[in-house]
Amino acid sequence: MGQGKSLSKAILFGEHFVVQGSYAIGAALSREIRIRISKSDKLSINIQSAQIVLEASRKILDSLGLKGNYFIEVDAEIPSSAGLGWSAAYSVALARAAADEQGISLTPEQASQYAYEGEKVFHGNPSGFDNALCALGGALMFRRGEKPISVKIGTPLHIIVAYVPRTKVTKDLVAGVSKIKGERPEFFNSLMKKEEALVMKAKDALAKGDIPALGKLMDENQEYLRQVGVSSPALEEMISLAKRGGAIGAKLTGAGGGGCIIALAKSKNDTKSIMGTISTKYAVFEAQIG
Ligand code: PMV
Repeated sequence: MGQGKSLSKAILFGEHFVVQGSYAIGAALSREIRIRISKSDKLSINIQSAQIVLEASRKILDSLGLKGNYFIEVDAEIPSSAGLGWSAAYSVALARAAADEQGISLTPEQASQYAYEGEKVFHGNPSGFDNALCALGGALMFRRGEKPISVKIGTPLHIIVAYVPRTKVTKDLVAGVSKIKGERPEFFNSLMKKEEALVMKAKDALAKGDIPALGKLMDENQEYLRQVGVSSPALEEMISLAKRGGAIGAKLTGAGGGGCIIALAKSKNDTKSIMGTISTKYAVFEAQIG
């Protein structure tokens, strides 16, 4: 029997653009996915899941030298297809469980690398940021192919996460953005430049603990995500409700098309009213970053 666990994540700035080569900033969330594996006569899992989960699992088990079959027990504190990195956290937790079964322990960097193999099965063209956040933890700035850099958080961020189920999968949403890039390169490149400048400003604002500036940058980032077609009416409604409750900035997080938004509160005192307005219609929870 082998056991492993992983944190989940929220991308604060730069999702989708990170796939195309821009920097992004994100943070690990304390909600976990825990996995236990035990030898079995066929590869199976205790939750209802698409075939791709078994395919990704096979890939991770194989890459850790476990050729036999296993029963995979998953205990997840986050919903799947929500933008909180379910597939990355699952992959990190399974890589750690497989290593545990082999009697070895992985460094965070190794867990991230093995999980990336699973992410490739899930997403086709993952940036690698989700598995890095889930495995390494903390707040990170990331660019594809480079080592993640730790980001300074000057003042803790009080974040409200709201959730609506989504129908599209990350793979298709990422492919949709790539299509826009291919069909309208000038439009997309100008957005990429804006997003890159925004992420640099966000890094400085995070270090200074400049919450009002971060709120504005989240709104601006949401506008770029709208322009590449990954927002949705429900996400927009959650953002409006968050603003009505007093959020100073809000945006979708992850692949979009439904899933989660993150809303920034000016201070801990404001979180209750923001949660109050959103929870009239949507599932919501609170998180602190830093
Ligand atoms: O929705 P999630 O948790 O799969 O996050 C996807 C994040 C993207 O930037 C859209 C894709 C990626 O590989 O970074």
